[in-house]
Amino acid sequence: MANNLLQGKKGIIFGALNDQSIAWKTALQAHAQGAEVVLTNAPVAMRMGEIHQLAAQIGGAPVIPADATSVEDLTALFEGAMEHFGGQVDFVLHSIGMSPNVRKGKHYTDINYNWLQTTLDVSAISLHKTLAVAKKLDAIREWGSVVALTYIAAQRIFPDYGDMADAKSLLESITRSFGYHYGVDKKVRINTVSQSPTVTTAGSGVKGFDEFIAYSESMSPLGNADGLACADYCVSLFSDLTRFVTMQNLFHDGGFSNTGVSQEVIGKFAPED
Ligand SMILES: NC(=O)c1ccc[n+]([C@@H]2O[C@H](COP(=O)([O-])OP(=O)(O)OC[C@H]3O[C@@H](n4cnc5c(N)ncnc54)[C@H](O)[C@@H]3O)[C@@H](O)[C@H]2O)c1
Repeated sequence: MANNLLQGKKGIIFGALNDQSIAWKTALQAHAQGAEVVLTNAPVAMRMGEIHQLAAQIGGAPVIPADATSVEDLTALFEGAMEHFGGQVDFVLHSIGMSPNVRKGKHYTDINYNWLQTTLDVSAISLHKTLAVAKKLDAIREWGSVVALTYIAAQRIFPDYGDMADAKSLLESITRSFGYHYGVDKKVRINTVSQSPTVTTAGSGVKGFDEFIAYSESMSPLGNADGLACADYCVSLFSDLTRFVTMQNLFHDGGFSNTGVSQEVIGKFAPED
């Protein structure tokens, strides 16, 4: 594989919690392709300190804490990153999701509405805030690329995904709407990557995750896409090879989204003889 797809590019990566995180793997792959990175996560997520190990692995990347629901924090983040890089950034990864209702096992029909606000703010509106701050500061270079991670529950019902499904729908809508305005004004492109279920801290928080991942595996002609493959896909979207791709929801799921049923799943319903 080429190793200079992101040579000279500079980016901000949100959401690397531990070495399972999609953001963690994306930071490693982006660095391997020549990018310089600033890492960020919510201040509470930094208590474990693991992000500093990642920072060291990618050449001493700065770590700037920011709660992605806080416009003030996001402003300080973009200002800090531009100061560090000596100019604008080329790419941003939004790899953030959290639902108190899902975490606490609230049934979708009986959610706590204050927690719903938190789900939407953290998992979707944070993308709007990130883009709005970046645009006001003119922090992203022309033809720059923003990628946010999403899940197919935005289009189809997966009962245990709860109010995260609503957050992902909003995230994908913000991607289209902001993608239009940022595209017209500054030629910045914005896409979501709709990833297969992946073993991470956020992923494993969904009830029945092991069954869910096995079902998805058996419904995907190529099998589930893993976190590393997702990182590579994000790198391709940060690169100049995809410069006319914007406002899209891009499935990275081994074919799951276009499979009605697989032979393997049908086989489970065959009468035993
Ligand atoms: N794991 C999966 O099965 C899967 C599938 C499709 C999409 N995704 C999406 O991928 C993204 C990354 O999740 P992951 O699976 O790597 O799990 P993860 O738990 O490693 O990452 C989630 C991150 O969100 C961060 N976060 C939470 N609240 C925040 C806040 N207020 N401000 C800033 N950051 C905050 C966490 O600290 C964490 O780093 C999420 O958007 C998730 O919904 C995951």
